[in-house]
Amino acid sequence: MFTPFELKNVTFPNRIVMPPMCMYSATEDGHVTNWHRVHYGTRAVGGVGLIILEATAVEKRGRLSNHCLGIWDDEHVQGLRELVELGQEHGSVMGIQIAHGGRKSWGEELVAPSSLAFPDKGIPRALSKQEIKDVVENWRQGARRAHEAGFDVLQLHGAHGYLIHEFLSPLSNERTDEYGGSLENRMRFLLEIIAAVQKEWPEDKPLSVRLSATDYLEGGLTILDTVQIAQTLKEHGVDLIDVSSGGLLPASFKLGPGYQVPLAEAVKAGADIATITVGLITQPELVQEILLSGRADFVALGRELLRNPYWVLEAKADETIWPWQYHRAIKGI
Ligand SMILES: Cc1cc2nc3c(=O)[nH]c(=O)nc-3n(C[C@H](O)[C@H](O)[C@H](O)COP(=O)(O)O)c2cc1C
Repeated sequence: MFTPFELKNVTFPNRIVMPPMCMYSATEDGHVTNWHRVHYGTRAVGGVGLIILEATAVEKRGRLSNHCLGIWDDEHVQGLRELVELGQEHGSVMGIQIAHGGRKSWGEELVAPSSLAFPDKGIPRALSKQEIKDVVENWRQGARRAHEAGFDVLQLHGAHGYLIHEFLSPLSNERTDEYGGSLENRMRFLLEIIAAVQKEWPEDKPLSVRLSATDYLEGGLTILDTVQIAQTLKEHGVDLIDVSSGGLLPASFKLGPGYQVPLAEAVKAGADIATITVGLITQPELVQEILLSGRADFVALGRELLRNPYWVLEAKADETIWPWQYHRAIKGI
């Protein structure tokens, strides 16, 4: 857990990741607030190796709520830069997840590959080919701003039933043009985004994609598809796959500590690419088991880090890892 890891020009001080988690605390126009400064700053003081900022919208209509962070305007860069500086100053590698909610967005204008609704949401409008080009361009601009803000890692949100995932899954993509049909065609939108962001995101900084490795539904994406997608992403210069699951449509599946680890393991083995695993992981022993057996390269703790920002410090036997300002609270120092 405490063995550093290198990807491109970035050295991660440990293997613990704070995964992207929406805080619904931005201003209505997508700007950073004091909540974010305290929230992310505290996890950096708490020793988290990689902090990935919550889903941050590349288009205003692609927000998941009216209080999500935005990266659709140059005006957003300054607030994001402050978060990067706060995190880096306290030793964390800083990443950002950029996102478009597609048919699961908040608000009036829902767009998607096809006019197929998510339950309890409006019917989305299928994007025209020209609109797809425009959306891809907005991902490119988002990547430019993420670089300008100084982030170390860029993650594209390709999971949980949002726009990229909607293109990938046959259950939400019924297009008959070159963006639908075969897996190769359904991947086209994501690959065009990757090519576009690579024009802005420097080659020496890691590029990550978060995927839902399975839809848990008949006719949906399977882990075999995801291994193939990960192989292709690797060929196109992606460095790190964050392996999540589900979210496209309601589905039932078994939950338990580390329930998504076998999915990360399959992606890592099948595509020979670095992975993050996530999902109901709370115990240091499980983290160690996952890492030592090579089932994933990083372990993300979501809700556990919301409950306990000092999880990493508590997990280390060496108490001198605590910030000196807190030493009077630590026995034995
Ligand atoms: C409050 C909250 C907000 C979340 N927001 C996002 C998000 O913005 N992007 C994303 O990919 N996943 C999001 N997730 C999913 C988490 O990143 C993570 O995959 C999930 O919580 C499972 O990990 P855990 O069991 O350790 O919490 C969110 C989860 C929570 C609890």
